[in-house]
Amino acid sequence: MLRIIVILSFMGSSLALLPTFGICPEVETIERLNMTAFMGKWYEAERYFSIFEIGAKCGIFNYSTGDNGSLRIVTSQTSVLTGIESTLEGIARPIGRADDPKLTVAYPSLPIQYPTPQWVLGTDYDSYAVLWSCTNMGVFSMKSAWVLTRDRQPPVPVVEKAYQILDKNHISRAFFYRTDQKNCPTKRN
Ligand SMILES: *[C@@H]1O[C@H](CO)[C@@H](O)[C@H](O)[C@H]1NC(C)=O
Ligand SMILES: *[C@@H]1O[C@H](CO)[C@@H](O)[C@H](O)[C@H]1NC(C)=O
Ligand SMILES: *[C@@H]1O[C@H](CO)[C@@H](O)[C@H](O)[C@H]1NC(C)=O
Repeated sequence: MLRIIVILSFMGSSLALLPTFGICPEVETIERLNMTAFMGKWYEAERYFSIFEIGAKCGIFNYSTGDNGSLRIVTSQTSVLTGIESTLEGIARPIGRADDPKLTVAYPSLPIQYPTPQWVLGTDYDSYAVLWSCTNMGVFSMKSAWVLTRDRQPPVPVVEKAYQILDKNHISRAFFYRTDQKNCPTKRN
């Protein structure tokens, strides 16, 4: 398991999982996800702590239409040390009906196939979104979460709305780290 964690953790923002003791907690998603409204660019405002992510900044999630009712997710981040931007493409599919906010994401370019859940716990589509990922692995669970915002520097009330979603789901904010979105590459942003 550790090897998987290490490999995945090098692959970018969208796979930074935090292994913790205990099974996945119960969380509440939105009722239905409007994929069309969710598309486009989101900035990673905050994310769950991962040691592998230290040194990464400027996280961006870009959602677009994929094949067969899937959602294509291109995540990118910039290395603080080298300034080099890396991207990873994921293909997300709703696990149930077409507007299921519980998605499962596969990463075709990775050497090992390890689909991860990505659930939308809250979003208003045009300012914030809260994503949650948790996989049970025996006595451990692999958790990850993100606060995404449409603005690179979101106003405080927008971030507060996202926090309310975390609080409602008893997800501790103590594990969240703010993503550095300063001095980012500008060409595509
Ligand atoms: C989904 O969002 C799009 C774009 O905002 C909107 O035109 C459409 O009516 C929405 N669909 C539903 C089912 O709410
Ligand atoms: C997001 O993805 C779409 C579709 O692939 C692409 O046209 C657009 O340039 C991308 N935007 C960014 C900021 O990467
Ligand atoms: C899309 O769905 C069709 C029919 O279900 C299937 O034959 C095809 O392989 C799928 N394509 C992809 C890229 O998943």
